[in-house]
Amino acid sequence: MSVLVTGGAGYIGSHAVQRLVRDGHTVVVVDNLVRGHQEAVDAIRQSSAEGRVTFVPGDIGDRVLLQSVMREHAVKAVMHFAALAYVGESVTEPLRYYRANTAAALALIEACADVGVERFVFSSTCASYGEPDATNIPIPETCPQRPINPYGRSKLFVEHMLDDYAEACRREGRPFAYAMLRYFNVAGSDRSGLLGEDHEPETHLIPVVIQSVLGRREAVTIFGTDYPTPDGTCVRDYVHVEDLIDAHVQVLEAMKPVDRRVYNLGIGRGYSVREVIDSVRRVTGRQPAVREGPRRAGDPPVLFADPAKIRSELGWSASLVSLDEIVATAWRWMREHPKGYAS
Ligand SMILES: NC(=O)c1ccc[n+]([C@@H]2O[C@H](COP(=O)([O-])OP(=O)(O)OC[C@H]3O[C@@H](n4cnc5c(N)ncnc54)[C@H](O)[C@@H]3O)[C@@H](O)[C@H]2O)c1
Repeated sequence: MSVLVTGGAGYIGSHAVQRLVRDGHTVVVVDNLVRGHQEAVDAIRQSSAEGRVTFVPGDIGDRVLLQSVMREHAVKAVMHFAALAYVGESVTEPLRYYRANTAAALALIEACADVGVERFVFSSTCASYGEPDATNIPIPETCPQRPINPYGRSKLFVEHMLDDYAEACRREGRPFAYAMLRYFNVAGSDRSGLLGEDHEPETHLIPVVIQSVLGRREAVTIFGTDYPTPDGTCVRDYVHVEDLIDAHVQVLEAMKPVDRRVYNLGIGRGYSVREVIDSVRRVTGRQPAVREGPRRAGDPPVLFADPAKIRSELGWSASLVSLDEIVATAWRWMREHPKGYAS
C-alpha cells in the first residue's frame, strides 16, 4: 500500500516509516524539518528501502502540495504524525500551535477529501484528557477529554474535525476509516540501532536523564517530590516506540471502510521520575546528576493508560514493559550518537 507519513523525519514518524517499508509498503514522507531530521529518512533508505521511501520537504498546511503528492504517489492511507509537541511552548506560543497542529491538519484532511484517501491514522495524545480524576486512573478511552493547555486542545480539535468529516462521509456513502491513537509517553529507540530520539530542546525524561550521564546537560531537575505517590515524584506510562508503531500497523490492517477507532496506547502501568533515574543509572552504569525543584503547574501526580480496549479488539499489547529494557534501547542510540543525528 502507498502510505503518506506526515512528520516522517521526526522521532515517532521515522520509526513508522522504517516499519512500513519493512512490511513491504511504499512510503512518501512530507516533513518541513522544523523539528525533524532528514538524516533519519536517509538512514532508512540506505539500510533497506532504496526506492520505496520518497522524501518531500514541505508543510502539511499546504493543501495544493499535499494533493499533488497524494495523486502522484497514489496514496491510499495517511499516518499523521506532524505536529509541534512541547506543552510549555504551546502556552507561550498558542497561535503557532493552533496553526501547526490544528489548521495544518485541516488542510491535510481537506486534501484527503479532494483526492479520496480512505484511511487516516492520527497521533493524538493523553494530553487531551487533561487532569483526570482518580476514578479514571488507569485512563480508559471514555475518560472525559478536558485538556489543560493549548497543545492538548490543538490535538483534540483534530479529533473533532475527523469525527465531523467522517460523519459527513457516512451520510454521503463515501468510505472513510480513521483512528485516533492517544499516546502516553513514547520512549526508546528501534532495536536495530538505526533511529533515535533527537529533539532540541529535549524535554522527554528518559533522553534528558541520559543526556545528563553523557555530560550534555548539567543535571536533571525533578519537578516536585511531594506528590501523593510512593516516592513523591510523578508517575507516567512509558511505551516503547516500536510497540507503539506496531499498534499503528495493526490498526491500519484492521480498518474497515467506515471504521472509527479510538485507542489509548500505553503499557498500562506507571513508573515514577525516580524510577526512571534509577533505571538510567542501572542501564548505563553511571550516576545521573539530580536536582530537586518545585512542582510544575499542570503536572498531575499519576497518569497511565488502560490499554484493555486495543488488547480486546486487536490483541495488541506492549511487548516491552520493563523500564530497563526500554531505557537500554534509548541508551544504545544516544551512546552511539552523542550529538544526535549530527554525530
Ligand atoms: N513523543 C511523545 O511521547 C508523544 C506523546 C503523545 C503524542 N505525540 C504525538 O506524536 C507525534 C510525533 O511526535 P514526535 O515525538 O515524533 O515529535 P517530533 O517533533 O520528533 O516529530 C514531529 C515531526 O513533524 C514535523 N512537522 C511539524 N510541523 C509540521 C508541519 N506543519 N508540516 C510538516 N512537518 C511538520 C517536524 O519537523 C518533525 O519531524 C506528534 O503529533 C505528537 O503530538 C507524541
